[in-house]
Amino acid sequence: MGKITTLAEFIVERQRDFPYAKGELSSLLSAIRLAAKVVNREVNKAGLVDILGSHGEENVQGEEQQKLDVYANEKFMNALRAQGEVCGVASEENDDYIVFDDENTYNGKYVVLMDPLDGSSNIDVNVSIGTIFSIYRRVSPAPGPATLEDFLQPGTEQVAAGYVIYGSSAMLVYSTGNGVNGFTLDPSIGVFCLSHPDMKFPETGKIYSINEGNYVHFPEGVKKYIKYCQESDPGTRRPYTARYIGSLVADFHRNLIKGGIYIYSGITRSPNGKLRLLYECNPLAFLTEQANGFASNGFQRILEIKPTELHQRTPFFVGSKDMVAKAEEFMEMYKEQTV
Ligand code: AHG
Ligand code: MN
Ligand code: MN
Repeated sequence: MGKITTLAEFIVERQRDFPYAKGELSSLLSAIRLAAKVVNREVNKAGLVDILGSHGEENVQGEEQQKLDVYANEKFMNALRAQGEVCGVASEENDDYIVFDDENTYNGKYVVLMDPLDGSSNIDVNVSIGTIFSIYRRVSPAPGPATLEDFLQPGTEQVAAGYVIYGSSAMLVYSTGNGVNGFTLDPSIGVFCLSHPDMKFPETGKIYSINEGNYVHFPEGVKKYIKYCQESDPGTRRPYTARYIGSLVADFHRNLIKGGIYIYSGITRSPNGKLRLLYECNPLAFLTEQANGFASNGFQRILEIKPTELHQRTPFFVGSKDMVAKAEEFMEMYKEQTV
């Protein structure tokens, strides 16, 4: 058996990449690692909910059973608060950002943005779900409370980002700006082990992932791109194959490994689509560029969008470079006819 590198060892080794960070970022990532294991344990029990008690009912301790996304939110919040290097967190589950304002966290140099449970509609049907996180250095002075401008930084400023996928195995995939590495949880010992070193999107792929139920509401460029994906051309490996799980993390993870494009574009009733810039698109765009792929809103690099609101949405085209470039070509060509 070859030497196994655990996530804990890897984080410490990579500490050298951040001479200025004095270990704070490492300790922050360790907090995420811990919360991921706790949430994974709970996700694994989700199928037993019918026999152990459903949401809204009381469990044996007389506590109200929580929805899994609220549970995940709490676990990540608590781990980050306890860790001390984070002065505030913005989450999909909270309307406003949360300031950590005890003595310890006031000095924290980082803010975290997260989607604690992504793909929540898949929980009840035993399909992969995830957690997405994004980490920035604060721009407001420390010590002091985190401010809105700490959270509204463009994605280019991220110091680290990643996701956890709770699937047939649990994996944690992250980047600190020096490539992307994936770790698989060995459940027998509760340790994440390096299983996917230096992950890269294949230059071009064969998979397109989009909710085609929205077809008639798509901008013309997306409609034409879908038809392009479906046409035959052996030179470009078309027709592509369609794969859509409906959990962004899971669709993204598959495409990262196999090569492909994921699209959630604007639709007539919601021109900016559904996905959130700050805690869904930016972190995945950061990983994507670190993995030799590209992420766009159809016209512009995701990471360069200047955010104006915590929960703002953006169209999202992400994946293998050539495929995203081709989709952008179609968006440009038909932009006058866009919703
Ligand atoms: P969340 O569970 O955090 O609200 O996110 C759900 C998102 C994303 O995971 C997925 O790709 C997308 O919603 C699916 O949306 P549609 O059902 O509209 O395709
Ligand atoms: Mn989500
Ligand atoms: Mn969510």
